[in-house]
Amino acid sequence: MRAWVEYLALNGQLLTIEREVDPRYELAAVTRRAQEAGNRPLLFRNVRGTRLHVATNLFADADNLRSVVDDSDEPFAAAYARVLDAAEARVAPPTTEVQAPGDLQQGSLTDLPLITYHERDAGPYFTAAIVLACDPDTGVPNMSFHRAMYVGPGELRLRLGDSHDLADYQRRAEKIGQALPVVLLIGVPPPVFCAAGTHLPAGIDEYALAAELAREPIDVYSGPVTRLPIPAATEVAIEGRILPNERRPEGPFGEVLGYYVPEGRNHVMEIEAVGWRRGAVFHSLLCGSREDLALLEAVNAARVYRDLARRLPGIIDVSCAPAFMNTTVQIRPQYAGHARDVMDVVFDSHADYNQLCCVVEEDVDLHDMNAVIHAFITRGRVDTRTRIMEGRKGFYRDTQDDFAGRVGLDATRPFGREDEFVVKEVPGLDAVRLEDYLTRGSRI
Ligand SMILES: Cc1cc2nc3c(=O)[nH]c(=O)nc-3n(C[C@H](O)[C@H](O)[C@H](O)COP(=O)(O)O)c2cc1C
Repeated sequence: MRAWVEYLALNGQLLTIEREVDPRYELAAVTRRAQEAGNRPLLFRNVRGTRLHVATNLFADADNLRSVVDDSDEPFAAAYARVLDAAEARVAPPTTEVQAPGDLQQGSLTDLPLITYHERDAGPYFTAAIVLACDPDTGVPNMSFHRAMYVGPGELRLRLGDSHDLADYQRRAEKIGQALPVVLLIGVPPPVFCAAGTHLPAGIDEYALAAELAREPIDVYSGPVTRLPIPAATEVAIEGRILPNERRPEGPFGEVLGYYVPEGRNHVMEIEAVGWRRGAVFHSLLCGSREDLALLEAVNAARVYRDLARRLPGIIDVSCAPAFMNTTVQIRPQYAGHARDVMDVVFDSHADYNQLCCVVEEDVDLHDMNAVIHAFITRGRVDTRTRIMEGRKGFYRDTQDDFAGRVGLDATRPFGREDEFVVKEVPGLDAVRLEDYLTRGSRI
């Protein structure tokens, strides 16, 4: 991540803040202001109570994120889907074992930036924490983001979410009464960041995806306590174990959808070692901001694209704009009812997300929700082109029923009557330069 921060600085994108900033609310407030003012990456060099610098908004820009995948002109979803295929088929080792970095320093959680983001948050949170764990039966590594609440130097509380691989690992360890060894990685190279945010089928090593994105194996060292494979470039690594049969209060916390998730009884991580590289940069992530959403949207779109392209003809592109809960699919309709079949695949593709699915044709910008809704409203009957699936469970919060149900909007033209819905055009428009027509001295 440090190399990524340096790259953003060299590019002139990085904004640096030298003034002392309070980790309680002020850091989040400055981050929010900077996001409103242009969404550029930020580096805080002086955060009260810690010697570590704090970087944020590093992956908020879609073009920056796209550059981690490849430099082709292909739609992002298709390009990322191709890398997912390659990762699943990979036979070459995805990691290279190296010595622990010579500049590793050991300390306590209290040395790290303890950042409180929102008014009603129960305390400081690590929001860019990637949890690394190995399958208790097969040893296959998995990485996933899980916010972690700071309770004290010896304890963090984690919210795992039922459908995640980590929750499955933990359940199996718990069944035999064992704690699950984990490492929290904070500040990892971009390919590892993307791999951690991506769901891969059970049994697939997420380092395979990181290695495909990096185009080389990832250097890892064995964690001093857990022996788990930690990427050598990781800025901060917190080792510990998730206790079996132990749940304690976690939350409230202002999370990704913009609301507070109420307090719940969640998992307990006992801390065993805290290490960081000399001059470490800590990664902070404002939940629900573009940095939080851009990757989720992109990986969800890639996943849906892959499922669709395997099962149906005429799939052009998929986007999850404006946030990860809506999926818009662009198709070249092949038969009446094509859009409905698309919706079925989309709603099956990710049990948590995809609350709303819109289907459009090539002439609609699938990143522009105004254009999508305009197409829905103007291209046919809204009653027969709306699909409602009742009761189907979706994105989990602590109060589960808030996210049940699905809605599909078919915004394609009636099949066989497309000509009645050709978008009007004025011939010669592209060639007109207004200044050639206006009286001299007129102002536009
Ligand atoms: C930047 C980012 C932050 C995230 N934060 C959280 C989080 O705090 N809690 C959570 O349960 N999921 C969070 N997620 C979602 C999942 O953890 C993530 O998509 C992960 O890939 C799931 O991995 P798995 O399918 O291997 O379990 C986040 C995803 C991203 C991309």
